[in-house]
Amino acid sequence: MSAQLDNQAISILKENDLGGYTIPTKGLYPYQWNWDSAFVALGFATFNMERAWEEIELLFEGQWDDGMVPHIIFRKDDPSYFPGPSVWGTTNPKIPTSGHSQPPVAATVVRRLFEQDTSEAGKEKIKTLFPKLLAWHRWYHTYRDPEGHGVIAIMHPWESGRDNLPDWDNAASHVDISDIGEYTRKDTSHVNPEMRPKKIDYDRYLAIVKFGRDNNWDPKIVADQCPFFVADPGNTFILLRADRDLLAMAEALGETDAAEELKGWIALTEKGVAKLWNEEKQAFCTYDLRNDVLGDGISSASFLAPYAGIREEKYINPTREHFDRIAAKVNYTMPSYDPDHPLFESMRYWRGPVWGIINYLIATGFADMGDTARAERLRTDTVALIEKSDFAEYFDPITGEGAGGNSFSWTSAIWLTWATPSLTAKAA
Ligand code: DGY
Repeated sequence: MSAQLDNQAISILKENDLGGYTIPTKGLYPYQWNWDSAFVALGFATFNMERAWEEIELLFEGQWDDGMVPHIIFRKDDPSYFPGPSVWGTTNPKIPTSGHSQPPVAATVVRRLFEQDTSEAGKEKIKTLFPKLLAWHRWYHTYRDPEGHGVIAIMHPWESGRDNLPDWDNAASHVDISDIGEYTRKDTSHVNPEMRPKKIDYDRYLAIVKFGRDNNWDPKIVADQCPFFVADPGNTFILLRADRDLLAMAEALGETDAAEELKGWIALTEKGVAKLWNEEKQAFCTYDLRNDVLGDGISSASFLAPYAGIREEKYINPTREHFDRIAAKVNYTMPSYDPDHPLFESMRYWRGPVWGIINYLIATGFADMGDTARAERLRTDTVALIEKSDFAEYFDPITGEGAGGNSFSWTSAIWLTWATPSLTAKAA
């Protein structure tokens, strides 16, 4: 079974490879997506290291002058996707792109490639990528944490990568949708609409894109005025982990100034995460910075504190308890939203389903802490889901049924790099 699935995963990556960059899946997502590419690079690294580096290098071809690495790179117009380049209206001189970013997993991935590839060519690649990664992290800390709280905000639900999480609903309800005009979605012609965000979500997505376009995607204006500006435990924890990984690379490269800058960001975020801690829920939640409201939803990102290197018992013990409560409730961990919450929906995009890439991140954090049992539960559940339902985009945590796009690149990559045979063996 495993060898056959290995081959299938490799074939999917090769089929979705459009020449140096990989699309998430045909039809639904026909461009290069930021965090998809980072995970895909780990998949390629299991059988073609050169191609793994190339994936990241092409991602950084889309980097803006201010350091931002956009969430989509539109190398050629594809009518199967909406909203395409003309809706974003960005002015990046190099390649058309979207106007905001996505979870910054790339530095963590690059560190893994760097450790795996000890060749001279690998060292050269890291030297070129390092300043680009640093500039992106600096952009995040400057413009998505403008008041220096030590938490990272998103200006659009898409920037979190967890598009229609129930936690965005309240903050997004303040976005004025009266001026968006007519539009035609394409996603619901590729995938069952019951598995996708609703029309009200898309209205709000497009209203925020219009705000960005009207303001030339100026990150200062975004920070001051964007109608949606919410601190996300996902991006905060992912960036904290990525800062630590970039620090390790700075030290290996003798980049002392960069190392100091990184240490400052790490110290700030280690303290700042307290702002996301909901004492009553005993969990890390979102914080709506525009309306000053701490959220109370528990999502899969609430379990990323160990991945970020947060070790305080006051945070980690309740995190484990929530993990066990949810793990007892579903057949397959980790649902993207708390199954005890009334807004949980097992098949609708980020309102309940399981994602292999998130399982990988959460499991990495638990494994780092020596919590092998919870890491293994996540891994074996991921294996069972893929064995049952193939390389789907995401899965129902109760039935294990696959949902969203098929032949999905990051599910294939996660299979290859982590899900089988075991985390311990892969890490060795
Ligand atoms: C989509 O189009 O659904 C994407 O998730 C946006 O990044």
